[in-house]
Amino acid sequence: MGEITFLLNGEPVRVDGAPATRTLLDWLRETRGLTGTKEGCNEGDCGACTVMVTALEDGTPVHRAVNACILFLPQLHGKAVRTVEGIAGPDGTLHPVQQAMIDHHASQCGFCTPGFVVSMAVGHLNGRRDHDDVLAGNLCRCTGYAPIIRAAEAARDAPVPGWMRADGDAVATLAAGALETADAFVPDSLERLADWYAAHPDAVLVGGATDVGLWVTKALRALDRVAFVAGVPALRRIEETAAGLRIGAAVTLEELHEALAPRHPGLGELIRRYGSVQVRNAATIGGNIANGSPIGDGPPALIALGATLHLRHGTETRDMPLEDFFLDYGKQDRRPGELVEAVTIPVQPDRLKCYKLSKRFDQDISAVCGCFNVTVTDGRVTGARIAFGGMAATPKRATAVEDALRGQPWTATTIAAAGPAFDAAFAPIDDMRASAAYRLETARNMLTRYFLETTDGPATRVLEVPA
Ligand SMILES: Cc1cc2nc3c(=O)[nH]c(=O)nc-3n(C[C@H](O)[C@H](O)[C@H](O)COP(=O)(O)OP(=O)(O)OC[C@H]3O[C@@H](n4cnc5c(N)ncnc54)[C@H](O)[C@@H]3O)c2cc1C
Ligand code: FES
Ligand code: FES
Repeated sequence: MGEITFLLNGEPVRVDGAPATRTLLDWLRETRGLTGTKEGCNEGDCGACTVMVTALEDGTPVHRAVNACILFLPQLHGKAVRTVEGIAGPDGTLHPVQQAMIDHHASQCGFCTPGFVVSMAVGHLNGRRDHDDVLAGNLCRCTGYAPIIRAAEAARDAPVPGWMRADGDAVATLAAGALETADAFVPDSLERLADWYAAHPDAVLVGGATDVGLWVTKALRALDRVAFVAGVPALRRIEETAAGLRIGAAVTLEELHEALAPRHPGLGELIRRYGSVQVRNAATIGGNIANGSPIGDGPPALIALGATLHLRHGTETRDMPLEDFFLDYGKQDRRPGELVEAVTIPVQPDRLKCYKLSKRFDQDISAVCGCFNVTVTDGRVTGARIAFGGMAATPKRATAVEDALRGQPWTATTIAAAGPAFDAAFAPIDDMRASAAYRLETARNMLTRYFLETTDGPATRVLEVPA
C-alpha cells in the first residue's frame, strides 16, 4: 500500500485512499478548491482543463501541457503539477503570457482562458514559436484566435519567470518509487509490471489514458484494478537495434514525432494532426496499438513501414508483423495478461507518405488514413506496402492494391488500373464520419496523390498551395 506523491503548485502532496480512476480535474476542483482549471468537455477535446506536468526524465526536467480531465491521480506519482493558479508568481506577479492576454484583449467570457494561459506558458517555457500547433488543443468559442495568437507572439521573447522552472528542481527531491494501492499499481520496472499483469490478467493497463479516461468520464465505467505503465523506464525508450528502431510501448506520440519526423516527414505531418499537444503528450504508441481501433492513426503508418510488434507475458516474449495483431473488430492477438512491450520499425530510405482525411484539420479522428510506402526501381514497382485506417474493422493492408502495383511500371496508367483493386481490398462501412462510397473514392485518390507527389506532379496540398 502507498500514497500518491506529487507536487501541486510547488507544494508536496500525498493522496491516500483515492480511487485509481479519480481524475486530476475532479480532485483539483472538488477536494482542493482549485476551480481555475475548468471542465468543458471532460473528454480531452477542448483544453479548458489544461495543466502543466513536470517529470524528471534521465535527470532532465520535462514540462508538458496535458488535459486534467482524462488524467488519473496515480499518473502524477513522482511528478509536479502546476495549475493556472500557479502560473502567476507567488507574490501575484502576472506571467508574461497573462499580461499579454490582457494587453491584446484575448479573453471575453474567460471560460477557455485558464487553459489557453497554461498551454501558452508551457509553450513559452519550452521555447515554442509554433503557436498554432501549441494551441490547437484549446478551443475558444467567443474571442476568436487572432488576439490569442497575437498575445502568444507578444510574450514570445519575454524571459521565463523563475517560478516556472522551480518544479524541475523540486521534483528531483520527491522520493516516489513504485506504488501499490487497493486498486492501482504504478510499477518501476518492466519485470515487475509483466509479472503483476500475468498474475492479474483482468486488470486494465493504462498508458496515457486518452482512451481509458473516456471509459470513466463518458461511459462511467468502474475499473476494479489498474496498472499504470507510462513510467516504466524500459517501455519509455527508443533504441537503434540491428532490426531497426525499437520504440517502447510507453513512448508518447509527441516523442514519436520528435524521433520519426526527421526520418519520415510524411509520418511527422500525420502525427502533428494527431489529437493535440495535450493528447500527444499523454497518448502512447502502445495504447494506440493495443486499443485495436480501426481508425487509429499509428497502426496504418507502422504497418506500411513493415513494423514488428513485441508482446510480453511474464518472462515470455513473442513477435509478429503488426498487421497480424489485428484479428477483427475489437479482437487482437493478445492473450490475457500479455502486454504490448514495443514495436520495431526497419530503417529504410524515406518514401513513406501518410494522408489523414478528417472533417477538421486539427484535433479530429480520421475518416480515412492512408499510408503508402512504394519502392520504385528503374521505373518499375519492386515493393509496395500500403495500409489504411477507416476502411475496415481493423487497420488493414491493401494487399490487392499492392499486388496490382508490384512489377508494373510506375505510371498514371498503372495507378488507374489499380483502382478496382480497392474494391477487392476493402468493404468499408457508412458511419457519421463518412460513407462507404466516399471512403473508397478518397482511398483511391490517395494513391493518385502519392503517385503525383513521388513523380513531381502538380501540387496536391490544399492548405499549402505554392504561388
Ligand atoms: C481528444 C482526443 C483526440 C484523439 N485524436 C486521435 C487521433 O487523431 N488519432 C488517433 O489515432 N487517436 C486519437 N485519439 C485516441 C487516443 O489518443 C489514442 O488511441 C491513444 O494512442 C491511446 O493511447 P493511450 O496511451 O492514451 O491509451 P490508454 O487510454 O492508456 O489505453 C488504450 C487501450 O490500450 C491498452 N493499453 C495501453 N497500453 C498498453 C500496453 N502497453 N499493453 C497492452 N495494452 C495497453 C489499455 O488497456 C486500453 O485498452 C484521441 C483521443 C482523444 C481523447
Ligand atoms: S475539459 Fe475539455 S479537454 Fe478537459
Ligand atoms: S473567451 Fe469565451 S470561450 Fe474563449
